[in-house]
Amino acid sequence: MTKQQFLIGAATAGGQVEGNNIHSDVYAQEYMKTGGYKEPSGDAADHYHTYREDIRMMHEAGLNAYRFSFEWARIEPEKGAFDEAEMNHYLDMIHACREYDIEPVVTLLHFVCPKWLISEGGWEADTTPAYFERYARYVAEHLKDEHVPYIVTINEANMGTLIAGYLEKIMKHTDGAGLQIGMDLEGMAAREELAKKENLEVFGVENAAVFTSPRTPHGDEIVCKAHQAAVRAIHEILPGTKCGLSLSVRDLQYTEKGKENADKDWEKDFLHYLPYMQEDDFFGVQTYTRAIFDENGEQDPAPGAEVTQMGYEYYPLCTEHVLRRVNESFKKDLLITENGIATDNDERRADYIRTAVEGLKRCKDDGIPIRGYMYWSMIDNWEWQSGYSMQFGVMSLDRETQAHTPKPSLAVLGGMRKLFEEE
Ligand code: BGC
Repeated sequence: MTKQQFLIGAATAGGQVEGNNIHSDVYAQEYMKTGGYKEPSGDAADHYHTYREDIRMMHEAGLNAYRFSFEWARIEPEKGAFDEAEMNHYLDMIHACREYDIEPVVTLLHFVCPKWLISEGGWEADTTPAYFERYARYVAEHLKDEHVPYIVTINEANMGTLIAGYLEKIMKHTDGAGLQIGMDLEGMAAREELAKKENLEVFGVENAAVFTSPRTPHGDEIVCKAHQAAVRAIHEILPGTKCGLSLSVRDLQYTEKGKENADKDWEKDFLHYLPYMQEDDFFGVQTYTRAIFDENGEQDPAPGAEVTQMGYEYYPLCTEHVLRRVNESFKKDLLITENGIATDNDERRADYIRTAVEGLKRCKDDGIPIRGYMYWSMIDNWEWQSGYSMQFGVMSLDRETQAHTPKPSLAVLGGMRKLFEEE
């Protein structure tokens, strides 16, 4: 690839498409009564076996990049015991990308962790950054000949604090009565007791601090330290690879009196992480919609606003707006590592993609160092707690036959490369 080629790709995460990641924390939770998942991931999209064909289809549609995750729980299924065959599996995914002129963008951790890590205290334990660094070193050593352009250390490093904030907001709105918005606090307390018991059985600890658990400020620091340690290790071993993290950041808008509230969220979701990104080479923006704040906080989407299957307002301009804002305080390379829409209307998806990418072109023309766009997701997949009910994909998944079929929006996505062709 020429150095400046703009990347147009799609994204996935192993936990959502590979299937049967049996040594992982999420796999264990999928089968727990208190695990919180609507249905288990099972074979998912069987991407563990279909990656070459999936990558071929992306290439045929004109894409030149693919963001996917390595699964720590496969590579290090037991503490300190690395599985060379699983590492080779991921190397082969990179080779398949090369066969089809696709640039691999690798994520080291996309929410899913080895089960043993959670038994050791997970994302609240001081030992975790060193474990993550050891895994990052092992992977980097194996990537020496692969010329991977970008590595995302941790996907949505702010997820646990976002969840903690969300729960706090819900609790505030219950007025102590526990009944508003259908919440049953007594029931919650009983479930908590049950969860402790089940966690003890499954993980050997009462508090399973998985990556997506509500995070304490101490846990947040652990995540940031793990990121920094991985960046240093990767820089040492792979000087030609750009390294960074990704965050979930919405386009925060406000009414006349809402600025203060919107600014608080920006501080919490983004600015707070800047000191830990000083040695990074790029930042991965993940954005799906906007949020509008007034003096009371965040408002629901306006009545009649178009919403996606996730309940998010349809708002593809969020990519352009967030990029411009991020660029005010982070001056290095930017990648959209995720942006997309859950809908069964593929024409709306195609429109969403066009509007989002055209916004990026305007950013680029204005001198913002935006290097690529990875649509979420390559294929309809297992959307965590929501199971298989969401359709984010530019390919469809037939769960009976495991057929993977491009939707028209896949070619629309590939066609967006033309916008950047003069480079
Ligand atoms: C996550 C993905 C998820 C997507 C859509 C992001 O928060 O990184 O794993 O599927 O959003 O909800």
